[in-house]
Amino acid sequence: MDMKTIPARSGKHNLQDYQQTYKNFNWDEVKENFTWSKTGKVNIAYETIDKHAEDPEKKNQAALIYTSPDREEKLTFEELKKKSNQFANVLKNHNIKKRDRVFLFMHRSPEFYASFLGILKLGAIAGPLFEAFMEQAVRDRLEDSEAKMLITTPELLDRVPVDKLPHLEKIILVGGDESGSHISFEKEMKFASEDFEIEWVDLEDGMLLHYTSGSTGKPKGVYHVHNAMLQHYQTGKWVLDLKEDDVYWCTADPGWVTGTSYGIFAPWLNGVTNVIRGGRFSPDDWYGTIAEQKVSVWYSAPTAFRKLLSAGADVAKKHDLSSLRHVLSVGEPLNPEVITWGLEAFDLRIHDTWWMTETGAMLICNYPTMEMRPGSMGKPLPGIEASIVDNDGNELPANQMGNLAIKQGWPSMMRAIWNNPGKYESYFVKGWYVSGDSAYKDGDGYFWFQGRLDDVINTSGERVGPFEVESKLIEHDAVAEAGVIGKPDPERGEIIKAFITLREGYEKSDELLEDIRQFVKKGLSAHAAPREIEITDTIPKTRSGKIMRRLLKSWELGLPTGDTSTLEE
Ligand code: WTA
Repeated sequence: MDMKTIPARSGKHNLQDYQQTYKNFNWDEVKENFTWSKTGKVNIAYETIDKHAEDPEKKNQAALIYTSPDREEKLTFEELKKKSNQFANVLKNHNIKKRDRVFLFMHRSPEFYASFLGILKLGAIAGPLFEAFMEQAVRDRLEDSEAKMLITTPELLDRVPVDKLPHLEKIILVGGDESGSHISFEKEMKFASEDFEIEWVDLEDGMLLHYTSGSTGKPKGVYHVHNAMLQHYQTGKWVLDLKEDDVYWCTADPGWVTGTSYGIFAPWLNGVTNVIRGGRFSPDDWYGTIAEQKVSVWYSAPTAFRKLLSAGADVAKKHDLSSLRHVLSVGEPLNPEVITWGLEAFDLRIHDTWWMTETGAMLICNYPTMEMRPGSMGKPLPGIEASIVDNDGNELPANQMGNLAIKQGWPSMMRAIWNNPGKYESYFVKGWYVSGDSAYKDGDGYFWFQGRLDDVINTSGERVGPFEVESKLIEHDAVAEAGVIGKPDPERGEIIKAFITLREGYEKSDELLEDIRQFVKKGLSAHAAPREIEITDTIPKTRSGKIMRRLLKSWELGLPTGDTSTLEE
C-alpha cells in the first residue's frame, strides 16, 4: 500500500468535512449546549452526568461499565448522579467548600469516578494522582496544592506522609475498616442523601489540577477551569466521532490528563457509554475488553499499540474485534508501522492526536474525515490556530523546523500554574503558547512532530522531569551527583538513563546499581526509575552549575557535542 496518504474511509465514519463546514468557527457557539446559555452559570459535572440522568430516554443507559480481573460493575447515568450527589454531601458534611483542593490517590474504580464528580459538584478542585506514586511524589503534590482532603485506599495509605502535610485535614478511606481513625467512604455514603444542590459556578472557576513535569523544578500544578467543557464536548464530536449509541474506551488512567479530559469529560458530555478497565495491561485482556464490551471507539497510546503489535496477530485473531469503528492515539509520536499494523489488525486507520496537559484538550489531530499522512499529527482543529515559530515568536515558513505554538485563547487552555505565576507567563511569547515540542508544517498544512526542545522525557507516553529523578538519586547515600536523560528505545519511545558519580568509599557493583534503581522506584514511582545507570567521573555542568543534559545525551548517542562554551572548567 502507498503509505504516503491514507484516504478517509466511508461507511464507519461521519464524513462531513469539518474544516470546510466550520471555516469561521467560533467557540462561543458551543456554549449554547450548556446551562450557561440560560442561566449564565455552569457546572461541568452537571453537563457530564446529571443532564443525562434528567432525560427519561437516557437515564437508564449505562454511563460507566467498570471491568477488571476481580470486579465488574455497571452504573447508569441516574445511578452515577445519585452516587456523586452522595459523595458531594459527604464532602459538604466535612466542611469542604468551593475552590478547596480535594485529591484522589487510588486505582480506577466506580468509587473513584463518583468521588471525582462529587468534588466538582461542590465547586471544589479535584487533584487526581496516579496510583503508582510513592511517598515523595505524593508529598510534593499535596504540599504544593495545599490539599485539605485526600481520598485513598488502605493499601496506599503508608505513602501519604500525613505528619508532613499541615494543610491536609482529613483522609477518606475507600474499602477500609469502618471503625478506623480515618473517615470511612462506605460508612459515610450509607447515610448520605442522594439529593444535592449543585454549586453553580462561572465558566472561569477552577475544577482540576494535574501535576506534570518540566525540565526544571518539581512537578507543576496545571490548573483547569469549567470552561474546558466546550472543547471536551466538541472534540468528542469532531475527533472521537462520538454518537449516542457508541461504546467508548479510553485506556488512560485519570491520574494523567487523557484519563480525565477523554476518560471522563468528552464521552459523558456526549452522553456515551464509557468503559473503564482496571488492572494491569495484557494483550489478551485488552482485546478481550473490546470484544466483550463491543467497544466501538477506542482511544489509546502508541506504547500500547506497540505492545499489542509485538504480541503478534494470533492473539488478535482469537478475539472478535468487529465492533470497533474508530481508533485514536495520543501521547507520543505514532510510528507509521503501527498505522500499517492497525490497518491489518482492525482494518481501520489509527488517528493520531496531539495535545498536552497544559492545553487541556486536543488541538492538532487526524480526524475521521481527513486524508491522513502517516507520521503526521494532522492539522489544527477548526477554531485553533497553530504555527511554527522561532524563539522570539515570529512565524516560520512551511517545512522549517521550530517551536510548535498555538495562538492563545482556546477554551480548554490552562488558566494558571498553581502558586507559580512566573512559570505560567514563561509559556507565552507574543500571544503564542509555546509548547516545548519542535515540529514543522508541510506545504499542505500537516504538522510533523520532531521532538522535545527541553529535557522532558517521554517514556511509554508518560512525562518524566529529569530534575525530579536527579533529586531523588542524590538522596541515595552512594550518589554524589546525577544527570538524567531520555534514551531512544524502540518500544517505550524513550527510557530513563541516569549518569551518576559515586561518593567516596563506594565501589561500583551490580548490587549497588540495582539498589539505587530501587531507591528511586520506592521513593518516586516505578515509571520514574532509571532503566540504565552509568557511573562516570564527572557530570558536565555549566559555570552556573546547571547540569548539561544535552551533552550527556550527545555522549550517549555518539553525536557531536556542539557548543560547549558554557561548560565549567
Ligand atoms: C508528547 C498528553 C507526538 C509531546 C496528552 C507533548 C506527542 C507531550 C503527541 C505532552 C503526539 C503528545 N505525537 N508527541 N500525537 N501527543 N505528545 O502533558 O511531547 O502527558 O508535549 O499530555 O507528549 O504530554 P502530556
